[in-house]
Amino acid sequence: MSSSFVSFSSAADNNKQHILNLLSGIFVDSGTVLEIGSGSGQHAVFFSKALPHLTWIPADRAEYLDALRDNIAAHAVGNISLPICLDVGIRPWPVKPVKYVYAANVVHIMAEDQVPDFFRGVGEHTIPGAKLCLYGPYKYAGEFTTPSNARFDEWLKGRDAESGVRDFEWICELALENGFIFVEDFNMPANNQLLVFQKNYAIEA
Ligand SMILES: C[S@@+](CC[C@H](N)C(=O)[O-])C[C@H]1O[C@@H](n2cnc3c(N)ncnc32)[C@H](O)[C@@H]1O
Repeated sequence: MSSSFVSFSSAADNNKQHILNLLSGIFVDSGTVLEIGSGSGQHAVFFSKALPHLTWIPADRAEYLDALRDNIAAHAVGNISLPICLDVGIRPWPVKPVKYVYAANVVHIMAEDQVPDFFRGVGEHTIPGAKLCLYGPYKYAGEFTTPSNARFDEWLKGRDAESGVRDFEWICELALENGFIFVEDFNMPANNQLLVFQKNYAIEA
C-alpha cells in the first residue's frame, strides 16, 4: 500500500488499525467526519473503507493539499469527499457543520496559539451532540507519560519552538470553552492517547 501513496507515513500505517478499533465504536451513527491535518490521507482512506456509514472529509493546509488530493484520488473510495484546504487559523472553515471531527498528531504540531483556534473552529463547525477524537501524546499535571515523550517534545521544539506536546488539562479546558465535554481517554500504542469529547451545547458563532 505504501508505494501507492505520493507521501507515506509509517506511523500512520502502524497506528491505523488500533485507532479504527476504537473509532468504530465512537463514530457509530451515519454522519460526516471532518479530518483536520490529514497529511498523507492514509487514515482517511483506511477509515472510510472500513466505516462505509460515514462520509469522510479530509483536510489540510495549502502546502499539503496537492499530495493529499493525489493520494485520495489514487485510492478513490465512494465515501471520501474531495480534500479541502483548511488552516485552523483561517475562519470560517470551508465546511458545513459536521457530526464528527478527527485529528491525529495535529495539536502538538501546530503552533501553540493555533490550538485555541482549532477548538473554536471545531465548536463553530459541529452540530449538537458532535464527537471529537484527538490522537497523539499528551502531558498530565505537567508530566510526560514517558521519557520518550519528553524527548519527543524536545525534538518538536527544536524543529519549531511553537510546537510541543500539549497539556491534557489545557485541551479539556479549550474543549469545554467551545461546548465539548471530555468523555474518555484511551491509552494507545507508542505512548499516545485517543481523547474523546462530545458537544453538549452550542456556542455563538
Ligand atoms: C504530523 S502531521 C499528521 C498527519 C496525519 N494526521 C497523521 O497522523 O499521519 C501534522 C498535520 O497537522 C497539520 N497542521 C499543522 N498546523 C495546522 C493548522 N494550523 N491548520 C490545519 N492543519 C495543521 C499539518 O499540515 C500536518 O498535516
